[in-house]
Amino acid sequence: MGTDERIRDMHILLVDDSTYNLALFETMLMDDGYTRISTALNATSAYDLLARHDDIALVVLDIIMPDIDGLEACRYIKSQAPLQDIPILIATAKTDLETLQSAFDLGASDYVRKPLVNSIELLARVRNLLNTQLELQLRRQGEEQLRKLNQELEERVQAEVEKNRQKDQVMLHQARLAEMGEMIGYIAHQWRQPLNVVGLLCQEHYDHYCNGELSRDIMESGTTKILDQLEFMSQTIDDFRDFFRPDKSKSRFSIRHAIETTLSLVGAAMEKNNIRVQVQCDATPEVEGYPKEYAQVLLNIINNARDAIIDNRVADPRIHIRVYTDHGKAVVSIHDNGGGIPDEIIEKMYYPYFSTKQEGHGTGLGLYMSKMIIERNMGGKIWARNRDGGAEFFVEMP
Ligand SMILES: Nc1ncnc2c1ncn2[C@@H]1O[C@H](COP(=O)(O)OP(=O)(O)OP(=O)(O)O)[C@@H](O)[C@H]1O
Ligand SMILES: [Mg+2]
Repeated sequence: MGTDERIRDMHILLVDDSTYNLALFETMLMDDGYTRISTALNATSAYDLLARHDDIALVVLDIIMPDIDGLEACRYIKSQAPLQDIPILIATAKTDLETLQSAFDLGASDYVRKPLVNSIELLARVRNLLNTQLELQLRRQGEEQLRKLNQELEERVQAEVEKNRQKDQVMLHQARLAEMGEMIGYIAHQWRQPLNVVGLLCQEHYDHYCNGELSRDIMESGTTKILDQLEFMSQTIDDFRDFFRPDKSKSRFSIRHAIETTLSLVGAAMEKNNIRVQVQCDATPEVEGYPKEYAQVLLNIINNARDAIIDNRVADPRIHIRVYTDHGKAVVSIHDNGGGIPDEIIEKMYYPYFSTKQEGHGTGLGLYMSKMIIERNMGGKIWARNRDGGAEFFVEMP
């Protein structure tokens, strides 16, 4: 619809106490193409029409009317929030300037004089006011659309943020579960030996008893041995629990100590798989960060090495850990002989949920979490390469 058509389609309210005037105005407007015209013979019915139609775009208002005059009606319209912006065209026989001034002071936009000699003046002013009104409406619509768009965008961003937060939460949870699964596996390894010992001691006691040899000495030494084993088993649980409890704040820690902590937990499992773990310390650097998280990263990498070694049924399995400094940075390299990382996944292996392991054997979060911990939380770097029939991971700390 063109501007002219739109203007001709706008709703005009004519208010005059003379039916003759109303008819005259209406005819002039209709002759010019206006189609939507309402009329009111007094202010009260004008208010009523304004209340019922929210699309009135112009009020042509007579000044001299019984009961409520035009000035009063003008004041009323301009005081009502939803009506305020409707332009008012004063149509008045009064030519005294004072009245006109009052009308403008009250917010009227323009005026025409009665009696109308011809339609030119009326049509020009009506058109002008409606045109301004149309522009205002279009601008408002534009602003409203923009506001809605902005709001939608904001809501979408909010929703995305929330979704990501939940995803992080889920991932953390999965990683924790996987860690717990690992933890139980390690505890099982650590416990196998002491459980055997306790079993043997019980058997021994029983045999002594059957042979009538169960002396107080045997009883005491056996019980002490059993309690020692139980103490060791209980300590294992504490160690693991402690290991998987995250640090609350950064602290200074020794890299060597972190390696020792990790190995003290996984040593038994490595031994069981005949994996020789060697540690070579060319330096003994200390760094600033979260020691337990750091040790977990080493654990993730060592576990991956172990898995690769077991998968490839390596004959003489080895993991070589080296600590050194490079340009003031503390580096740990972990080199296995498990066959190496296929070229096509060397970039992808850090993606969350990327795993080449059998269903149920890997969450694919190990390296992702490790990268997050080292690079995002501690400002370090993790990378890997293949060398001598195995993978070599580097963990660098500032
Ligand atoms: N030392 C390695 N040798 C060969 N491939 C490796 C090695 N370390 C990692 N990868 C590859 O990278 C993939 C991703 O490792 P990541 O630790 O992120 O997950 P995962 O070990 O599969 O599962 P989990 O969440 O249980 O650690 C592995 O599935 C494996 O294909
Ligand atoms: Mg892993």
